[in-house]
Amino acid sequence: MDERWQRPRGTQDILPDDAARVEYLRRLVSSVAQLYGYGRIETPVFEQTAVFVDGVGDGTDIVQHERYSFVDAGGVALTLRPEGTAAVARAYVENGLSAWPKPVRLYYWAPMFRRERPQKGRYRQHQQYGFELYGSPEPSADAEVLLVARRLLAGVGLVPQVLVNSLGCEVCRPGYRAALVAYFEKHGPDLCEDCQRRAAANPLRVLDCKQDRTIAQGAPDIADFWCVACRAHQDAVMALVADQGLSVVREPSLVRGLDYYYRTVFEVHDSSLGAQSTVLGGGRYDGLTARVGGAPVPAVGFAGGVERLLMAAGRRIPGEGVPRAYVAQVGPGREAWRVAELLRDAAIPTEVDLMARSLKAQMKEASRRAAVVVLAGGQEWEAGRVAVRGLRDGRESEVPLGGLADVVRTWLDEGQEGE
Ligand code: HAM
Repeated sequence: MDERWQRPRGTQDILPDDAARVEYLRRLVSSVAQLYGYGRIETPVFEQTAVFVDGVGDGTDIVQHERYSFVDAGGVALTLRPEGTAAVARAYVENGLSAWPKPVRLYYWAPMFRRERPQKGRYRQHQQYGFELYGSPEPSADAEVLLVARRLLAGVGLVPQVLVNSLGCEVCRPGYRAALVAYFEKHGPDLCEDCQRRAAANPLRVLDCKQDRTIAQGAPDIADFWCVACRAHQDAVMALVADQGLSVVREPSLVRGLDYYYRTVFEVHDSSLGAQSTVLGGGRYDGLTARVGGAPVPAVGFAGGVERLLMAAGRRIPGEGVPRAYVAQVGPGREAWRVAELLRDAAIPTEVDLMARSLKAQMKEASRRAAVVVLAGGQEWEAGRVAVRGLRDGRESEVPLGGLADVVRTWLDEGQEGE
């Protein structure tokens, strides 16, 4: 096929069956948000570039290599949103949300753009759901967002094990960083090309490099550098969630790829996803509002990829299979149309032939597309009645037009219960 008419690399067309699954997840996310009191926030698809360069950090992959940035006709530098946290922080500051009663709980569902190398589970346009909690420095806030993540995953039948770490704070991280730089200097020539560059500027990132795993395993552990406050915070978060029966494991090499994290970081992986196994990730980011023009506010949150959740949950998420009725036309006439509209008036999803098919072909079509078929027209119609047939259980009945919607609804509901 002519490349010009193909979708851009790393993007997707979502067809009705998957779109129905996506819609199911969207409803799941908003119902979990409601349970915990998170209000929906929507921010623009693009922001001024500084929001991400300063917010996420200009040493990060998403800012350095993966940005979709452009200068518009008015000379303004803009970037398609690669992640939601910095954008929400900008909106929090700009709209004065720090004046709201604390904590402020927000969630979003939005497309993100990263010019990454496409592969299974990694796209250049993907969708994320995210939860952000502002105003509380307490370990209980970290614990709450972890419980939100668990409830969400439970909604699609996943029982997560959460990997957790703490990246320390301005008191203890510099000491750790210096120890890491010294360690990687010793191993300099053995590191991969990327990490040789990263080792001095962003040594924490070397820890999660897949190629340098052996070297990273011998690196100093940040836990030996945590200050008293960071250790207490981490212990409290772990204890709070363990108390709620959530399985958490400390992972010393977990560092996350974004610069704004402070203390807690966490991820949930699913082995069924292959190389891109992170279902969701997040952490605490107390300094972020100060990077985007506001006063510092403690905050913690997480985000997950919708496509990855779909892949991990697979067929446990129902697709388009809404039970439907099909109205077949018996003989010439338009009775089927009338009946179909009557069923739709009663909120019953209903299809009717648009292909001028014979009755036999309509019945075949009905058995492919619907759970109940109604035959409209013919002699019964003259007597004010229509024939109804259950396509899965084979039952049949003849009912007056006035009672049809109730019968069809009951049969559809019963059919669903039986599945
Ligand atoms: P992130 O780990 O970069 O974190 O992205 C969050 C999630 O989005 C990942 O765990 C993954 O499931 C999904 N994801 C990321 N990139 C792609 C991609 N190219 N294709 C498909 N899915 C992808 C953040 O963005 C932070 N804002 C999370 C956060 C919220 N931290 C605190 N609050």
